Amino acid sequence: MAFFFDEPSRTFSEYLLVPNLTRRGCTPDVVSLKTPLVRHAKGTEPAIRLNVPFASAIMQAVSDDAMAVALARQGGISFIFCSQPVEAQAEMVARVKRFKAGFVASDSNMRPDHTLRDVLALRDCTGHTTMAVTDDGSPTGRLLGILTSRDYRLSTTPPDARVRDLMTPFADLVYGREGMGLSEANDLIWEHKLNCLPVITKDQRLVHLVFRKDYAEHKEHPDELVDRDKRLVVGAGINTRDFEQRVPALVEAGADVLCVDSSDGFTEWQRDTIRWIKDRYGDSVRVGGGNVVDAEGFRFLVDAGADFVKVGIGGGSICITREQKGIGRGQASAVIEVARARAAHLEATGVYVPICSDGGIVHDYHVVLALAMGADFVMMGRFFARFDEAPGRRLRVGGSFVKEYWGEGSNRARNWQRYDAGGETGLAFEEGVDGYVPYAGALKDHLSLTIGKIRSTMVSCGAVSIAELAATARITLASAISIREGGVHDITLKENEMLPGGA
Ligand code: IMP
Repeated sequence: MAFFFDEPSRTFSEYLLVPNLTRRGCTPDVVSLKTPLVRHAKGTEPAIRLNVPFASAIMQAVSDDAMAVALARQGGISFIFCSQPVEAQAEMVARVKRFKAGFVASDSNMRPDHTLRDVLALRDCTGHTTMAVTDDGSPTGRLLGILTSRDYRLSTTPPDARVRDLMTPFADLVYGREGMGLSEANDLIWEHKLNCLPVITKDQRLVHLVFRKDYAEHKEHPDELVDRDKRLVVGAGINTRDFEQRVPALVEAGADVLCVDSSDGFTEWQRDTIRWIKDRYGDSVRVGGGNVVDAEGFRFLVDAGADFVKVGIGGGSICITREQKGIGRGQASAVIEVARARAAHLEATGVYVPICSDGGIVHDYHVVLALAMGADFVMMGRFFARFDEAPGRRLRVGGSFVKEYWGEGSNRARNWQRYDAGGETGLAFEEGVDGYVPYAGALKDHLSLTIGKIRSTMVSCGAVSIAELAATARITLASAISIREGGVHDITLKENEMLPGGA
């Protein structure tokens, strides 16, 4: 006889938070969103902690190196997608680790024999007026000079004037040496009243540019998530097929944490993948497992050695797994059951295994509900796919800007390893769709709004930390009619009035 769960499978929108007493000192600015990422003994500091409880999904349309840099600078983490060749993924990881705040690769470069006409064409294309002049016109060529808009006058300089005659030549430049720190670079910028400082190698090859304006911007990232060497923290997805090649390459590239990317993590091949990593690397390589939706799946992955467990099947915005296979569980029910299993495991062993609620976050308050139900952090795809930093193209559709967003199980991504059922290789049928999400601008601006809402909700719950929220939150199921009551009702909206959007 099959097993029947007593409770129906429920999702976040069916629950509400009931306020707790808010003490005087409990204000949004004192709320801490720090949260553990990997398993650790109770009472000890985890090897990796996030500063905000957000991970971007292991998806082609979401997590490349640009997203990873943007999100780590806000205190979260990206897991670079694994549905690409090993070398390409490792290179993305390496790019994140090479990123130095304030030090940028020069993206507008000229050769000395280029003309003002070429300069103006490049300026129109990149929008940048400061250009490095290198022997081969590359961003890492031998630096011969710098050209800015102060070096020519459009009304009088002939369009075929040569860059070599307009630029400030190397002999007159102030420059920094490779390996210098940002504060050292900025001392030079201030001392010599520069807008831009080139940084070069011993043999005069260009490495970076440091701009005056970026210094102030760097100061605006107090939550930046960095490793011991002050490099940004980045994660990477792996699969259960080519892990013997992929894992060493990602570790070599500097990945701080890995995660097995699978729609169903309750499998022997996922267990074998995690065990292989743990046998070979021990705790020097951290790896999350998933996805599971119940206590049994959780215990299975924890026993295999998973450093965190990802929860969620079928709730993703692009996901059609439930329609295609009838597999899944309401996201709230899954998180609640797994969190209970985690508490029992903590009680029995003294080891805390973080859990991640993955997929199906539609409103900002869903994040707080997930945390209150016991998730340590959330993974989101749709949320992040909307930003400038996401890999999808920005398009204009029907008068509005949108970004492309496609599932890993769609024909576009063809990430069959994520849906691997053993045996045959290849995607037998789609488990995801290819679509658009409304374009939402820069990640930083939008995420800070979401974080503001989360802090404010936590204040209403009387909690100044995620752990306190999980321990003290009061959560109620809401009837269908009371959910309707929560929306705007019985009034006529003014023309152009916008309803509050989702997360
Ligand atoms: P979202 O935040 O609701 O958009 O969900 C993102 C999550 O959906 C990811 O982190 C994956 O767990 C899952 N996912 C990604 N691609 C697919 C797919 O093609 N089908 C089903 N689930 C997917």
